[in-house]
Amino acid sequence: MQTLIAANWKMNKSQQEAEQCAKELVKLCAKKPLRHDVVLFAPFTALSATKKGLGKSGFHIGAQNFYPAENGAFTGEIAPSMLKDAGATWVLIGHSERRHILGESSAFIAQKTAFAQSHGLHVMLCVGETLDERKAGSLEHVMQHQLNSALQDLQEFNPQTIVIAYEPVWAIGTGNVASQADIVEAHALLRALLSEQLGSIAAHIRLLYGGSVTAQNAPDILALDNVNGLLVGGASLQAKEFASILSA
Ligand code: PGA
Repeated sequence: MQTLIAANWKMNKSQQEAEQCAKELVKLCAKKPLRHDVVLFAPFTALSATKKGLGKSGFHIGAQNFYPAENGAFTGEIAPSMLKDAGATWVLIGHSERRHILGESSAFIAQKTAFAQSHGLHVMLCVGETLDERKAGSLEHVMQHQLNSALQDLQEFNPQTIVIAYEPVWAIGTGNVASQADIVEAHALLRALLSEQLGSIAAHIRLLYGGSVTAQNAPDILALDNVNGLLVGGASLQAKEFASILSA
């Protein structure tokens, strides 16, 4: 299975910074053939600049959000067609910052997932438990709910165009990377839940880990069972550090 490593730049980078970072990344990665698919999730305002910086590298561009409608009276929102126009082919859905800070519900996440897929955008769907949920022993329940609800409106499931990122909320931006045992347990659980829900296709779905990934811990995490890629926040902001993660 082709691994995928993604950068989530969150609410960072001007157009100039994004173009420069993308350019530098391509240059740093040109030295040897890459073994991973690469996606950069840039802020809306920097999508075109990121595309410009990436040139013909073959790296993909993603948006961090969108509204599930064609167009119309949705002040402040962005439609999939606008993202595609700016160069994005991927979208991030269900990130814990949108679930917990922006209050996105499971129903809205399901609606976005189905809409993105039916409008030609690849989806990176994030799932993950909070520390309280983990302490209460609810990992399986939370994962099952988040997966089942997000995927319920999909007409069909294409593992080429949708991937799942496991991001324990307590590991995001905290420096507390999940232990290898925790990652293996959660990814095995995800694989089993997907197989219950979708059958044999589950074996072909890429499962990414995210949460305090760095150039130091990336190679060990990537080598774990059922880990088919990484979603990287803080450590993706500097081209040099992200390039060294990509060389893992
Ligand atoms: P982090 O963020 O790598 O800074 O922990 C990951 C994410 O939020 O996707």
